Amino acid sequence: MSASVQVLDKSFVPFLDAETIDASIATLAAQIKADYGDKTPLFIAILNGSFMFSSDLFKKLDFPAEICFIKLASYKGTKSSGHVITAIGLDTVIKNRHVIILEDIVDTGKTLSAFLPEIEHQQPASLSICTLLHKPEAQVHPLDLKYIGITIPNKFVVGYGLDYDGFGRNLPEIYQLKD
Ligand code: XMP
Ligand code: MG
Repeated sequence: MSASVQVLDKSFVPFLDAETIDASIATLAAQIKADYGDKTPLFIAILNGSFMFSSDLFKKLDFPAEICFIKLASYKGTKSSGHVITAIGLDTVIKNRHVIILEDIVDTGKTLSAFLPEIEHQQPASLSICTLLHKPEAQVHPLDLKYIGITIPNKFVVGYGLDYDGFGRNLPEIYQLKD
């Protein structure tokens, strides 16, 4: 991993390397297989942040599963704007499906707690959340997080799909905002 990286006006230091990320996703894939291997689940990946995570997780699943993508946004810069915007709607039928939401990170929990009722309204057979990263100290909206990859401190992170004002998503590993 590079010693530190500059994204726009901010410096970031190495935090989670490729092996750590990959091992965590392998564990998540095994847990999901144990629970859903015979259920043909429907994954709903939340864009933009989860595009790398959902791709890497999906490749590790060796059982029948579907995936679709929706876009929500609640961040401006390094602070949550508090507004949840659905930019791309859901066009897959989810009634009676076993649905697993894929998120890059659960921070305050605002995004998912606002979005989940929309899914529940469509009567899935079951609904669970899988997030690569979780910041428990930042979470204010309660959520039942069935699958958590890595628990991290309440510091802003970029890389591996996560952005700072649109940049830094291409970093293959995860960096933390320098103090
Ligand atoms: P909430 O607060 O609604 O946030 O749980 C969820 C969404 O906000 C983005 N987010 C981040 N993006 N570094 C980022 O690049 C972070 O540290 C961070 N924290 C939250 C992310 O898109 C997530 O889906
Ligand atoms: Mg996201």
